[in-house]
Amino acid sequence: MSKFHVMLLVLVALLWNSGASEAEECEKRWIHIRKLPSSLNLDLLANCSEYPMLDDLCPFLANHGLGQKTHNHSHSWYRTDPSMLELIFHRRMLEYPCLTQDPLQANAIYLPYYAALDSLRYLYGPEYNSSAKHGLSLFHFLQSDNPQIWNRHMGHDHFLVMARPAWDFSQPLFNDPPVWGTSFLELPQFFNLTALTLESRAWPWQEHAVPYPTSFHPPNLGLFESWLNRVRRSKRSVLAIFAGGGGVSATPNIRRSIRSECENATTSSDSSYDTLCEIVDCSNGICEHDPIRFMRPMLSASFCLQPPGDTPTRRSTFDAILAGCIPVFFEELSAKAQYGWHLPESEFEEFSVFIPKEEVVFRGMRILDVLQRIPRTRVRRMREKVLELIPSVLYRKHNSSPGLKTKKDAVDLAIDGTLDKIRSRLRDLHLDFVM
Ligand SMILES: *[C@@H]1O[C@H](CO)[C@@H](O)[C@H](O)[C@H]1NC(C)=O
Ligand SMILES: *[C@@H]1O[C@H](CO)[C@@H](O)[C@H](O)[C@H]1NC(C)=O
Ligand SMILES: *[C@@H]1O[C@H](CO)[C@@H](O)[C@H](O)[C@H]1NC(C)=O
Ligand SMILES: *[C@@H]1O[C@H](CO)[C@@H](O)[C@H](O)[C@H]1NC(C)=O
Ligand SMILES: *[C@@H]1O[C@H](CO)[C@@H](O)[C@H](O)[C@H]1NC(C)=O
Repeated sequence: MSKFHVMLLVLVALLWNSGASEAEECEKRWIHIRKLPSSLNLDLLANCSEYPMLDDLCPFLANHGLGQKTHNHSHSWYRTDPSMLELIFHRRMLEYPCLTQDPLQANAIYLPYYAALDSLRYLYGPEYNSSAKHGLSLFHFLQSDNPQIWNRHMGHDHFLVMARPAWDFSQPLFNDPPVWGTSFLELPQFFNLTALTLESRAWPWQEHAVPYPTSFHPPNLGLFESWLNRVRRSKRSVLAIFAGGGGVSATPNIRRSIRSECENATTSSDSSYDTLCEIVDCSNGICEHDPIRFMRPMLSASFCLQPPGDTPTRRSTFDAILAGCIPVFFEELSAKAQYGWHLPESEFEEFSVFIPKEEVVFRGMRILDVLQRIPRTRVRRMREKVLELIPSVLYRKHNSSPGLKTKKDAVDLAIDGTLDKIRSRLRDLHLDFVM
């Protein structure tokens, strides 16, 4: 056999193998991206400067929803608005390795509908009183264009992203006038599909929560690891910080308790911290698109306080994890009851602290005392655990290097979770048919 033939054989073997491993890797993981009319996605971007009551959204669309870079020479840091997750996710789905053109071969159907963007005209705009209509044009399309795709599993295999808390889509159908939110998740038409939201309800049905996007979107393994090293080396001279707003009114609440405890804290001479507590003032949204304001302080603190605000969850939980700052929660709904695909429920005690807010607000429990009593060795172990979680909660940049792709990020885990959820749903359904 000539050298050439040997090479050819090797090549054929390689190709054969990669084909086989793709089929293996993609088994039960095929996803079909439904082609939707542009009125349900791209047209919604064209109006980015005209949404009522909101600032110009156009800058946040840059870089497929990551937003603009924090400065010209930045490779990983962007001014990301979490409500752009629909774009970020859509772009990432386009590079998902197990896409199929054939909806009948797919294990799941992804609907690239920009649901939260489309909700703005109901939430803030002229169609406020028609909020029970949110999503009906999508449903009409699914019923009229190739209806067999929806009908095959009656929508149980369909999923989409809704980049706001589910609370914003759970308005009872017959509230007149509506109090707050659209009725998307209350419409019987959508009971069967899976919605990925930034926060789920206390008793979720269709939805599952996924992490809020942060500002860190590394494009390769080198940049990811250099951040990780910076986080690991960072000197933690502050015991606890709270980056946020609120807590200035007179009514007792957890933010007010944090503020008063923090402002009065004094370090004793035997403390190993320079400062016990620091507040990073983020009122009036000044931190939202300016990650430097809170990332630097978070890098220098051991604990990051995550009190509930308008809703129980906060983007800041994920910023803190990125900075290696151990999150302190005050209610279960803030994370433990939400992000099971990304933050394993059974491991919460290993990487976070839980202090019930009632104890603090009404029974005088002092947060800083609780945190100071945790031994330094345990704090170090918890931080190591937080560092391990970083890859799971970040949204890496689209088209990133193969090395970085070997680490499952927030999108990869959301897809795994969705496929599992749909698989078990279809299995239960099938049992129903048999019995
Ligand atoms: C976008 O803006 C145009 C013109 O202002 C308007 O006619 C159209 O209805 C808007 N589209 C959406 C989806 O809001
Ligand atoms: C960043 O780049 C833009 C466009 O390339 C340029 O207009 C701007 O002056 C640059 N800013 C700085 C601070 O270099
Ligand atoms: C909605 O309806 C209420 C009363 O039913 C009315 O006062 C309000 O102006 C309406 N809002 C819009 C945006 O049409
Ligand atoms: C949802 O699924 C149920 C069966 O589980 C089916 O009866 C119903 O028609 C489906 N709804 C839609 C809108 O397809
Ligand atoms: C903290 O200081 C404020 C005044 O700045 C005071 O009203 C409050 O009682 C103090 N709280 C504690 C817990 O010492």
